[in-house]
Amino acid sequence: MQTFLQQRSKTQFIAGTLLKKGPAHFAAYTSILLLLIFFSASTVCSIWATLSTADSKHKSTNKTIVAPISRNHNGKRLLQNTLNCTTTGNQTCSTRYPTTSTTFEKNDETCPEYFRWIHEDLRAWKATGITRDMVERASTTAHFRLIVKKGKVYVEKYRKSIQTRDIFTIWGIMQLVKKYEGMVPDLELMFDCDDRPVVLASDYNDHDRNKITGPPPLFRYCGDRWTHDIVFPDWSFWGWAEINIRPWEYVLNDIKEGNKRIKWKDREPFAYWKGNPAVDETRKDLLKCNVSDAHDWNARLFVQDWEKESEQGYKNSNVANQCTYRHKIYIEGYAWSVSEKYILGCDSVTLLVTPRFHDFFIRSLQPLQHYWPIKDSDKCHSIQHAVEWGNNHTQKAQEIGRAASKFIQEDLNMDHVYDYMFHLLNEYAKLLKFEPTVPEGAVELCSEAMACTRNGTEKKFMSESFVGGPSIKAPCSLPHPFEPNTLRLFYANKLNVIKRIEKWEDEYWSQN
Ligand SMILES: *[C@@H]1O[C@H](CO)[C@@H](O)[C@H](O)[C@H]1NC(C)=O
Ligand SMILES: *[C@@H]1O[C@H](CO)[C@@H](O)[C@H](O)[C@H]1NC(C)=O
Ligand SMILES: *[C@@H]1O[C@H](CO)[C@@H](O)[C@H](O)[C@H]1NC(C)=O
Ligand SMILES: *[C@@H]1O[C@H](CO)[C@@H](O)[C@H](O)[C@H]1NC(C)=O
Ligand SMILES: *[C@@H]1O[C@H](CO)[C@@H](O)[C@H](O)[C@H]1NC(C)=O
Ligand SMILES: *[C@@H]1O[C@H](CO)[C@@H](O)[C@H](O)[C@H]1NC(C)=O
Repeated sequence: MQTFLQQRSKTQFIAGTLLKKGPAHFAAYTSILLLLIFFSASTVCSIWATLSTADSKHKSTNKTIVAPISRNHNGKRLLQNTLNCTTTGNQTCSTRYPTTSTTFEKNDETCPEYFRWIHEDLRAWKATGITRDMVERASTTAHFRLIVKKGKVYVEKYRKSIQTRDIFTIWGIMQLVKKYEGMVPDLELMFDCDDRPVVLASDYNDHDRNKITGPPPLFRYCGDRWTHDIVFPDWSFWGWAEINIRPWEYVLNDIKEGNKRIKWKDREPFAYWKGNPAVDETRKDLLKCNVSDAHDWNARLFVQDWEKESEQGYKNSNVANQCTYRHKIYIEGYAWSVSEKYILGCDSVTLLVTPRFHDFFIRSLQPLQHYWPIKDSDKCHSIQHAVEWGNNHTQKAQEIGRAASKFIQEDLNMDHVYDYMFHLLNEYAKLLKFEPTVPEGAVELCSEAMACTRNGTEKKFMSESFVGGPSIKAPCSLPHPFEPNTLRLFYANKLNVIKRIEKWEDEYWSQN
């Protein structure tokens, strides 16, 4: 089983599994309609306007920065704050970090739209708060419990995750705590590093029972419409050591450069996908759309062989060098796929095969504005039409590609990822109805000790994503929750656009 898991996740965008995807062919309409109904119903008993905008309690402080950190005019850290293992390799955490007295410059920016989903993801606990019992129950599947207490980070490990997912996730939270020194409130959370969400909403939708038991708050990388798992940025934002994908800040820059190398019009006029088809039936189904002697569906599909890539030093798997086609296909694997941000960043039109899962940022993207929807149940026809449409309407196609890459470059840059984590944890902590404590089995962690005792790629990625000291600026401010109407309109609009495109497709295929 372990080998199988290793195999599978080695290929998250990538990958291969024996398990089938379940109701993958749920039509998009049905699920969105279901959601509409769900939201309409749930709004009756929710309090929409009471969530305050985040960090007001931090703004009035008047303290000075204890450890001055050199930064350039953009507030970026300068090089002397990079990891230095010579002096710090052995230090205990407590002597390293001052945890109070940091001031931050006011940040006038309101966070991107997708931050509003933080309110939705925590809505299940809005009325009841989060009790210790709820948190403890989340330990059933959790890989670790993470505690923030007075600015220090402690972890109690329950089991080893696949690859280094747990390590890089913990690393990411530690960097957050340093970036916003003194601002991350005391909390205890449970984190599950596996792919699929597990906290079934249907087990907790009875309101009376809810008060007694309530869903366990469990953090993980993706969710779906039927679960309450709390969505958090995945490990790859700090690097994916096993397949040599660098921390997001660097990849983002590479993609930006890559986009300049080949203009959209000069790219191959087809839809490209490269990945591991073994992880899910839907990916095997996608491969049937590859060009053949018999038919050209406008798709160019390739199998990613990670063993071979590893031997060849990953020179053919650099995501930034894969922006050479006008259209790129995103398709889920066993769950959401880490590849999503790399594909959307390409300036090409993303052909998004109807997804079942969501990560923390995808829910705010709109069809025809940021991507082109592809029917999961009839991929080949859908792809052929989409590519031909894009090649006919080059102006509009380029706009779609650019809107997505702009979103990725701006709304999903590393600063915003940290701000998302901050606000999510901050809002989560507000719901806790108990005093977070450090349990007996937990150990305090500090970045230097964690990174300096590693070697190879892991150490390299940690030093590349190391946050040397506090940010100059405070986080952006958290937008308000969706009004019930806004959310309804949002889903209705999405549904309409998808319907419109399916109509174009049907008309096209009735004539061809
Ligand atoms: C901030 O510091 C100034 C000067 O030391 C002091 O006059 C002022 O009252 C302080 N404000 C707050 C909110 O502590
Ligand atoms: C690390 O710190 C030591 C002592 O301060 C210094 O001598 C050394 O040059 C530093 N190394 C790097 C790579 O900055
Ligand atoms: C780190 O600590 C260990 C044990 O406490 C000690 O043996 C070693 O010499 C120390 N290394 C440095 C560089 O201080
Ligand atoms: C898809 O077709 C291309 C072109 O013939 C070929 O190079 C590629 O290997 C095929 N992909 C798969 C997964 O068979
Ligand atoms: C693309 O343009 C050609 C020629 O005008 C037309 O026959 C075809 O139907 C168009 N396809 C799409 C999908 O718009
Ligand atoms: C890193 O350390 C592990 C065990 O400590 C060792 O097996 C591995 O070969 C090392 N890798 C590199 C690149 O030094």
